[in-house]
Amino acid sequence: MFITFEGIEGTGKSTQIARVREYFERQGREVLLTLEPGGSRVGTALRKMLLHVDNKDITPITELFLYLADRAQHVAQVIRPELEAGKVVLCDRFADSTIVYQGYGRGLDTTMLKELNEVAVDGLWPDLTLVLDIDPEVGLKRATLRNLEEGKAKAEGRFEAEHLSFHNRIRQGYLTWAAFNRERIRVIDASGTPDEVFAQIKAAIEMGGPGED
Ligand code: TYD
Repeated sequence: MFITFEGIEGTGKSTQIARVREYFERQGREVLLTLEPGGSRVGTALRKMLLHVDNKDITPITELFLYLADRAQHVAQVIRPELEAGKVVLCDRFADSTIVYQGYGRGLDTTMLKELNEVAVDGLWPDLTLVLDIDPEVGLKRATLRNLEEGKAKAEGRFEAEHLSFHNRIRQGYLTWAAFNRERIRVIDASGTPDEVFAQIKAAIEMGGPGED
């Protein structure tokens, strides 16, 4: 089982991923928790490059290829082998982030992005993708608070510093993209308490996917 988690910053993604991990481990399943960018050895270097404040001069296309390179390596070296070994793989961001951030966010052509994603994932699509949805203003407040707490506001604050309208576009992008991919993507209302959010996630997992509604 391969589950990916998506959404703008500050949706409480990390908290929910930890809870999903516990949920599967209680059932005796082995779980791999991973993320993009940065889920492989080479990916760790790519992540630093992508998220560092000093690299604001990276062009949208360069950025795109770095995310895709990270994904190709991650799928080949980590995700596919771990799934084949029988683990549940939970991934914080995956191919849908590229469609939404580089496509709806930066304005690159989503049809092209879809094709390039196909190359990067090499046939390995998630069984279920959970989009944690929240008002960007609420999400950004949560994210800024978290970054300050973790003392990483400087090193990894590049996206958070961008304008609110960008994040609104990202949110709409996720909702649009989710509507096009109902067989795989489920939108979760992330505005409630962690328990309320997890209840929706658990229901989505137990249904074995989003279904046709
Ligand atoms: P990260 O610190 O992991 O953010 P979050 O806690 O919100 O998951 O940073 C990842 C950033 O990279 C995030 O702002 C989204 C962006 N991103 C893309 O633009 N395209 C991609 O394909 C991926 C995987 C991430």
